[in-house]
This record gives sequence, C-alpha cells and structure tokens, in this order.
Amino acid sequence: MSGLQFPDDFLWGVATASYQVEGATTEDGRGVSIWDTFSHTPGKTLHGQTGDVACDQYHRYEEDVALMRDLGLGAYRFSIAWPRIFPQGKGQRNPAGFDYYHRLIDKLLAAGIQPMVTLYHWDLPQALQDEGGWPARQTAEYFADYAAECFGELGDKVKFWITLNEPACAAYLGYETGLHAPGIQDMPQAYRAVHHLNLAHGLAVQAYRDTGQNGEIGIAPNPSAVRPATRREEDVLAADRARDKWARMFLGPIFSKGYPQRHLDAYPDCPLPIEDGDMEIIARKIDFLGLNMYTEEAAGHDESHPEKYKILPNYHPKTEMDWSITPLGIYRLLKWIDKQYDHPTIYVTENGCAMADTLSPDGRCHDADRIDFLKNYLRSCAEAITDGVDLRGYTLWSFIDNFEWSLGYSKRFGIVYCDYVNQRRVPKDSFYYYRDVIAGNERFD
Ligand code: NOJ
Repeated sequence: MSGLQFPDDFLWGVATASYQVEGATTEDGRGVSIWDTFSHTPGKTLHGQTGDVACDQYHRYEEDVALMRDLGLGAYRFSIAWPRIFPQGKGQRNPAGFDYYHRLIDKLLAAGIQPMVTLYHWDLPQALQDEGGWPARQTAEYFADYAAECFGELGDKVKFWITLNEPACAAYLGYETGLHAPGIQDMPQAYRAVHHLNLAHGLAVQAYRDTGQNGEIGIAPNPSAVRPATRREEDVLAADRARDKWARMFLGPIFSKGYPQRHLDAYPDCPLPIEDGDMEIIARKIDFLGLNMYTEEAAGHDESHPEKYKILPNYHPKTEMDWSITPLGIYRLLKWIDKQYDHPTIYVTENGCAMADTLSPDGRCHDADRIDFLKNYLRSCAEAITDGVDLRGYTLWSFIDNFEWSLGYSKRFGIVYCDYVNQRRVPKDSFYYYRDVIAGNERFD
C-alpha cells in the first residue's frame, strides 16, 4: 500500500455529538443535562452561548443525511442524549426520545450509511449530577442500565457502539479544572470520576455481551500524544510520564494493565474508589478502540511538577484552537498504541481542525488549510496501516460546524459550514475533497 491508498473496506465517516448539533433541548420530553445547566450559567461559555438550538439537527436531520449521502459516507458517528431517553437519568423512560433516534437511524440506513453510536458524549442528566455525578459510583450503574436500554431498542439496527467519548475530558475538565460541565474544581472528585467512567464503560460492554448481539463495541478516548522535546533521557522519561494522566489512566485498565502506579503515587490525595471485581469489569474485551486525536505536544523534564514534566512551546503552525498541526503525531500515537496494547483494532473516531472559515463572495467556503490538514493526517494514517497498525476507519470531526463547548460557536470544525442566522448548510471545499477521498479510497495530493 502506498501513502495514498486505503484498504478496500476502510470505513469513512464523519462525527458529531448530541449537545453540539441537535438543539431542541426542551422538546419531546427531553430532560435537563449538565450542559444545559452549565451553558445557562453566566460566565461559563463564550458570550453565554448554549446548545439550545445548535445546528438544529433534531429537525434538520433529513437534510443532513442527504448531504452525507452526497459525501458517499460509510458511517455517521453521532451520540444519543441520555436525558432524551431517561429525562431523570434513570427510572421512567421517555419513548419519544427513542423515536428521534429511530428516525435518524432509519434515514441513515436507507442512505447506506452505518450508524456509529456514542452512548455518552458529556450530556449527563442533571438529576444524576444532583446525586453526585461521576464521582458517585451509582452513576456508572445507571449508565449501564441506560446503555442496556439502547441496545435493546436499537441494537438490531446499530452495528457500532461507543460507550464513552473522551472520558478524560469528562473527568478532568468537568471535575478538576471546571472548564466543562458540571464546572467543579476538586481534584479528588475528578479521580473518582475517572474510575467510575471506566467502570461505566466496562459495565456497558458487559451489558452488550449479555444481549448476545453481534455488533462491535468500543470506547473513544483521547490519549495524549506526546514526544520528548530532546533525546535526553530525562526528557524521554518526561514524555512517557506525560502519557499517564490522559492515556494510561484509561487505556491501562481497559487493556488489563491496570492504572499507572507512578501517576497515582504523584497524587496521594486522590485515591481511586476501586472495589473488588472492578478491574475485571473494566477489562472486558472490546472489539475496537476509538481514537480521538488532534495534536501532539512536546514534553521536557520539570523537577517542580508532581509528575516531573512540562509541555514546551513548539514551532508548528496552529489551528484556531491553538492546537499545533502535527500530522506525524497521529502516526506516532497509532504506533505507540499498537505496541503498548498488543495490536488492537482501531478506528480514528475524531480528527479534524477548527479554521478561520468564512463565506466568500462566491457563496462558498474555501478552506484550503483544512484540506491540507486532512491530506497530511490521512497520509500518516495510511502509513500507519502500511506499517502494521490495524486501523479500520476514520470519522472526521466534524460533519458540520457546531457548539464547541465552552468556546460556543466561535470555532468551526465542520466540512459543512453552518450559517447560524438561518441554519443554512454550505458544503466547504473540504467537503468536496473528502468526497473524492471516499470515492477513490485514497488521499489525493
Ligand atoms: C473533542 C470532543 O469529543 C468534541 O466534542 C469536540 O468538539 C472536539 N474534540 C473538538 O474539540
């Protein structure tokens, strides 16, 4: 295989998440999520923006699926909003919630597009946060009940399930830095959340196996991609340690390697609430690992940091998120995972970039910088496959510009431009580039 061509059955997709695109947050019996509460709290998001309307995909999914059909997609990765199914997170189920996902999935299947369904993309029912949220063990159990309900209702139509999206963000941004919902700043709580998210994942995998269904189930973490700033031994060790918090705290237990002890030792005040049997549950075999990857950073030794590393400035050009554009980083991360965790099947479940997109006088969006980004990252993916990584697919983030969490609508990640004034969809140049990639199963120069 060359750096251009992908395997015949490579799965090409695009990705979104419920709170970022759906809107309709008060319709058809949907309950309140922590992101509704957080975004409606003054000062938490840019300009106080919320996901109340977002891209209105709840009402415009037919138009969106038609665009996806034009793209020639094999898969659409989207998430189910837990509070649409269980407005209180548990107990009384809301049938109207499933109706929407049935309609969406039926449209996708009719267009020849496989649904790839994420069960948790950060919109925890507020009622469960009120009972303690992820730092509380029962949230993991409620998640497993909700997951089982989804398998029962949709399992005959859905072949790809993802338990959690970026659990590291849910734990550390939600409960340590407070930059994301529920906006708590308490490090011990964040580490309790880590373990309960992992447990929730394992319980959901178990629930899926119990159904006897024959689809595939995995998880989509965002392990840090880090390279040593120099070849000095201390920097090599620093870069390795920089992978503990965001990579090994999740991948370790999932792949039966446990939690990284040196990381736990660095934070003795943040014990993990592990109970007997938990580690076996978390290590239930997954069918694939999803990988969300955007950027790689350089780390060097820092004696003053509890984990003895710091992230250093680098020379790479940056996206609008201020994330370095590092296509080689995805190659290195794929290879690292392949080696560390014994050659798992991988899907890149998120990759893409926010750029300063505008509509030109000709009515189009000429996002040449995004096309460059994609070409280079896809080259790295193709090379990783050539070099033995079992990479089976790629779902680009994102199908359409959407609500970028605390940054509101200021960051455009889509290959479709969303005009938020009137909800008009305008395919960007990268849409047509990606359409050609999919059609030819190769990345074009
Ligand atoms: C991570 C998240 O999964 C997604 O929700 C977010 O919009 C993108 N990456 C870009 O930050």
